[in-house]
Amino acid sequence: MSFEPRILGFLCNWCSYAGADLAGVSRIQYPPNIRVIRVMCSGRVDPEFIFKALKLGIDGVIITGCHPGDCHYIEGNYEAVKKFELVQKLLSKLNMEKRIRLEWVSASEGNRFAEVITDFTNQIKELGPSPLSGKDLDMELMEKLEALEMAAESYRLRALVGRERKITEQENVYGEKYPKEKFDNLFDAAINNEYIRNRILLSLEKNPKSVKDLATQLNIDSKEILNHILVLKGRNQVAMEDIIENQPIYLNVMER
Ligand code: FES
Repeated sequence: MSFEPRILGFLCNWCSYAGADLAGVSRIQYPPNIRVIRVMCSGRVDPEFIFKALKLGIDGVIITGCHPGDCHYIEGNYEAVKKFELVQKLLSKLNMEKRIRLEWVSASEGNRFAEVITDFTNQIKELGPSPLSGKDLDMELMEKLEALEMAAESYRLRALVGRERKITEQENVYGEKYPKEKFDNLFDAAINNEYIRNRILLSLEKNPKSVKDLATQLNIDSKEILNHILVLKGRNQVAMEDIIENQPIYLNVMER
């Protein structure tokens, strides 16, 4: 039996939703796999929405908005690009980045809407069902996805996403611009760090552990784990619970 993917589409009210409507009234054929959520602007699609859908086992998520320069809220689609790039980079850690897509479709592009949906549906068919869509859930993968979602919600990554343009395009008080390449490196490092920190937090949520235990469980060097623990302690997210055989045992003290 051929695989019929479940695809979730977030369509901007002002352009793409009207484009989808035009495709419908013009009787342009496209695969029926998409379920649509109408949003006022593509910039409204928070990373959380995408992670929630993927955690529910949705095979693919597509966001469509007005073409650059046409956003009803001036810069909403610019925000959408930045948020999308963040989610894409995070999902690449689990090789799931091809399960999401961002496209521009105007109200007059019924044909284009049908083409985009057809192409994305075929791409997801090629990828096969989401690893989180079956009955036997891969709990380790689910926990990693949860850590990515928490990373996307972290203050640090949100701040970098929100300020990228200001940091890289505007001059500071000394008349200097921060080079884009340098910003990208900083952003990638922040993504990696926040992901690992949230994996540590999720692991410590289940039961307290030493740095050595965490290093073994997460397959990450102990020195690196210790550096993250120090940052998390500084943020009051973990605390030392005990010392067993000369090894500090840490626990997660965050309220969720
Ligand atoms: S209103 Fe359509 S992308 Fe912003």
